[in-house]
Amino acid sequence: MADARRGIVITVFSTASAVGKTLISINMAAELAKQGYRVCLVDMDLQFGDVCNYLQLQPQRTLTDAVTALETDKNSFAVQDFLTTYDRYDVPFGVMAAPLRLEEAYNIQTASVKEVLLQLQLRFDFVVIDTASMFSDINLTAMELSTIVTFLGIVDFIPTIKNMKSGHDSIREMGFDVNKIRMVLNRSNSKTRIDLQDVEQLLGSEFYHILPNDFGAAQRSIQTGCPLVLDSKATPLKTEMRNLVARYTNRPLEKAKEDSVSWFKKIFQ
Ligand SMILES: Nc1ncnc2c1ncn2[C@@H]1O[C@H](COP(=O)(O)OP(=O)(O)OP(=O)(O)O)[C@@H](O)[C@H]1O
Ligand SMILES: [Mg+2]
Repeated sequence: MADARRGIVITVFSTASAVGKTLISINMAAELAKQGYRVCLVDMDLQFGDVCNYLQLQPQRTLTDAVTALETDKNSFAVQDFLTTYDRYDVPFGVMAAPLRLEEAYNIQTASVKEVLLQLQLRFDFVVIDTASMFSDINLTAMELSTIVTFLGIVDFIPTIKNMKSGHDSIREMGFDVNKIRMVLNRSNSKTRIDLQDVEQLLGSEFYHILPNDFGAAQRSIQTGCPLVLDSKATPLKTEMRNLVARYTNRPLEKAKEDSVSWFKKIFQ
């Protein structure tokens, strides 16, 4: 576990695009916030970040502004000044928005992002990081800082599985602690002829958790800006997302803290 004074970092990573990283990141953040934890969701998909779109937020400041301020004057840098607040449905959490323009991504230094993440860790119980699907410096840094890496995959085509395997092997070869890697299968019951057990055998590890396919629920969440876990409608996908978080926190769902609002105000004081 991370140092007691530092928040837990959860990076959501995959070796393929469009496997559900952003959907799962926002739901993890929302579920943790709902349980009363202080949560910041970081959109580290620097070129094509979707977090603010999915949550229907219009950020005034982004990671670009944060790293610029940090590099200009580290002593007066206050990371909370660069967050956008998600506070619908009485479940507040902070969001570090991705750059608004694609070209800004080229000027973002990994060392500065690392410092931003370290500062967020000092203020929040959980820092959830959504990533782009690549083995970049910035993603490896996030994984290094992470307590848990949610390695998300779907089992649809052979090339997706091949890339999942090579990504999984690479993470091991790079010397990352394998105990922090949690292989999570998304869209499990989507139509495919590929046997799950064959995939697990190929990967050399079992899936830690399985999330069902539910196109309707996923689409509704994106259309309304309401994470599934905050939606009053019960769906198997919502239940399994909540169960995944409960496994991470080792905390039964019913033990949610009551006061999830007052702490949040303190963060911005
Ligand atoms: N369990 C699921 N069931 C049905 N649809 C899903 C599920 N998870 C994600 N989706 C859908 O898959 C699409 C891709 O999801 P998402 O944008 O979260 O993926 P991503 O991995 O972040 O993609 P990218 O690599 O482009 O950032 C979205 O339309 C989302 O609604
Ligand atoms: Mg995404």
